[in-house]
Amino acid sequence: MRSVRDIPSFENIPILVRASLNEPIANGIVADTFRLTRTAPTLRFLAEQGARVVVISHIGELGTETLAPVAKALGELVRGVSFCPYTVGSEARAAVRGMTPSSILVMENLRRNAGEKKNDPAFAKALAELGDAFVEDSFDTCHRAHASIVGVPELLPSYAGLQLEAEVAALTDAKKPKHPAFAVVGGAKFGTKEAVLEALLPTYDRVFVGGALANDFIQALGQEVGQSLTSGVVDPTLVKLAHHPKLLLPLDSVVVKKAALGTPDAKRHARVAKRGDVRPDEVILDHGPETVALLAAHAHDAETVLWNGPLGNYENGFVDATDAFARAVASSGAHSIVGGGDTITAIQKLGVLDKFSFVSTGGGAMLDFLAKGTLPGIAALDKAPNGA
Ligand code: 3PG
Repeated sequence: MRSVRDIPSFENIPILVRASLNEPIANGIVADTFRLTRTAPTLRFLAEQGARVVVISHIGELGTETLAPVAKALGELVRGVSFCPYTVGSEARAAVRGMTPSSILVMENLRRNAGEKKNDPAFAKALAELGDAFVEDSFDTCHRAHASIVGVPELLPSYAGLQLEAEVAALTDAKKPKHPAFAVVGGAKFGTKEAVLEALLPTYDRVFVGGALANDFIQALGQEVGQSLTSGVVDPTLVKLAHHPKLLLPLDSVVVKKAALGTPDAKRHARVAKRGDVRPDEVILDHGPETVALLAAHAHDAETVLWNGPLGNYENGFVDATDAFARAVASSGAHSIVGGGDTITAIQKLGVLDKFSFVSTGGGAMLDFLAKGTLPGIAALDKAPNGA
């Protein structure tokens, strides 16, 4: 992987940067700038070298949102930022031609063009026309085979941005942890977590499965989960993993009657149930006090803690286990690596994000990298015209 620092010349050269500007917007205003702060050093570095920095990114799932407010927020972190309401085409090319050295131009949301998600070669070519070199700095999307991720590096000399380099270094280290090593995988959907669990179990001393994901495992043990969210499939791999000697599951849960879920006083009706003691009309929404104590004890004993995915049902306000574990890791002194949008939001709210050794910008990308040691967007850099 060649570094942005290896680009042979910068002065007045248009350099296309795939950045991570996918931030939440509330009432037209950027509600969080975590990813902007992480990609800012790459943009600043290129601007300081005198390049014309052309930034491309997606925002949101569907392509309906605009990056205009994000460009504004980025401008508060880095000098010389402006916004172009086009992504590709003659207007976009004219805007790039009109840039002065050391300026930064944020192009409109990539996903406004259907060619982005389809990795349409024509769209990749139109993007590549905006720069003489390509820099990949959006680790969070490197697991997607989209035009801006895998199509553009086929066409331009390509380099890794500073944030991408930091992610690869930190997560490569996390694959060879100092022991005792404790991993926590939360969130939901066994299908999206199977590969990372298979990869972590041989190298970590204990792997705790939490969040709604734990429901799949509890069900695989033949224990009652009531009306809780599950993937709905019990396959032989899941059953095998559920019995793995290094795998830990919640000891107890906070549950409510399904009928009370979504009502303002759902929390007031909650009770703590031992694992397997959930009633058929109840849903599991968080881990209970015994589980929280178990998690804290493992965090304090560990040299390495790796964490991705919230532990409780965040949307309905069941945040206690996630918050308690975040505090336990923050005060543990362990080398700590954390990722996943909801997990980071939770830690940020507590004001302890800076106590973590490395905070990944990736959610799914972090899990896929830990599972496979690479991602399509990273492999694409090595296959680029100037690649390894
Ligand atoms: C993320 O937020 O995880 C990344 O930006 C990828 O976004 P996506 O899931 O919409 O592809």
